Amino acid sequence: MANILVTGGAGYIGSHTCKQLAASGHTPIVYDNLSNGHRDAVRWGPFEAGDITDGARLRAVIQAHKPQAVIHFAGLIEVGISVADPAAFYHANVYGSLTLLQALVDEGVSSVVFSSTAAVYGQPETVPIPEGAPSAPINPYGETKRAVEEMLGSFAAAHGLRYTALRYFNAAGADPEGDLGERHDPESHLIPLVLFAALGQRPHINIYGTDYPTPDGTAVRDYAHVSDLALAHVAALDYLQSAPEPLIANLGTGTGYSVRQVVETCRRITGRDIPAQDAPRRDGDPPALVAAVERAHDRLGWRAQISDLDTIVATAWAWHLSQSKAG
Ligand SMILES: NC(=O)c1ccc[n+]([C@@H]2O[C@H](COP(=O)([O-])OP(=O)(O)OC[C@H]3O[C@@H](n4cnc5c(N)ncnc54)[C@H](O)[C@@H]3O)[C@@H](O)[C@H]2O)c1
Repeated sequence: MANILVTGGAGYIGSHTCKQLAASGHTPIVYDNLSNGHRDAVRWGPFEAGDITDGARLRAVIQAHKPQAVIHFAGLIEVGISVADPAAFYHANVYGSLTLLQALVDEGVSSVVFSSTAAVYGQPETVPIPEGAPSAPINPYGETKRAVEEMLGSFAAAHGLRYTALRYFNAAGADPEGDLGERHDPESHLIPLVLFAALGQRPHINIYGTDYPTPDGTAVRDYAHVSDLALAHVAALDYLQSAPEPLIANLGTGTGYSVRQVVETCRRITGRDIPAQDAPRRDGDPPALVAAVERAHDRLGWRAQISDLDTIVATAWAWHLSQSKAG
């Protein structure tokens, strides 16, 4: 139906979204510098190598493919690295997004879906967290995402850019057909780390913080299946075609699981002994991050469908097993 430019489409959420775009009749054009992505994850449309800080390259790709809209995943994602090297994050995430938005305006592309994050909320006052909660990030990663949300607002006002900023909570799981999965390096996300311990690729999993004010004392997070997130992006493109006003929406399930619940679920699904060690809290980790999900439902008609923890872990486990056998 339409060409869609997908920055960061060789990465985890981007590649799953490309598969869903193709299933919905679109052609995803992946634009990625492969700093953290995988060329073999680009299977549903053309690949264009490039950096989002390179305006000339972006304009050339846009002129060649004439996309109807852009889904902008590209950027740096690892919170700990953002604390140690904020310049890299401001460069890739803020300057890169600025370069992209200016190229879109120059080339007459008027619709953008942006990957934002629950990290814009910092330490939330209320849980589940509504989109109207204060934006108060507590690390450079979250600051860069908030800055891009503000930039989108300014470009909408000045140039009529239409945008949706989707604030993901925790993306998790793998393509149910086994085509794709999570391959971050370094990996910092809980479920793959637990599964690495199940595979014997790590000695144990650390449980950071066991004295939080949560039912079992460990931190609670909202995990959405990556294929559900992919569907939300297709819904966001449809929304941008019909509704011009900007939309900022959380993407989550509205249900939180504790770290201990995740580890227990991984033990049950894998049938393996997974050693766990209690460890002190990490700085800046809030006790609970759970999304208020009504806005995505009301405005995008989207609700998570396969994001129950068993399905998330089972699909992730199938992926990691296939990778360990292949490797
Ligand atoms: N994974 C999560 O749970 C999560 C949660 C909230 C928000 N997000 C956001 O979603 C987006 C995708 O996350 P992901 O987990 O798929 O990450 P990822 O690292 O797998 O994918 C990011 C992709 O962007 C590419 N990239 C990075 N810098 C680039 C640059 N300067 N130019 C061109 N390409 C570049 C990488 O090569 C990679 O393919 C990110 O913007 C991230 O901040 C992710």
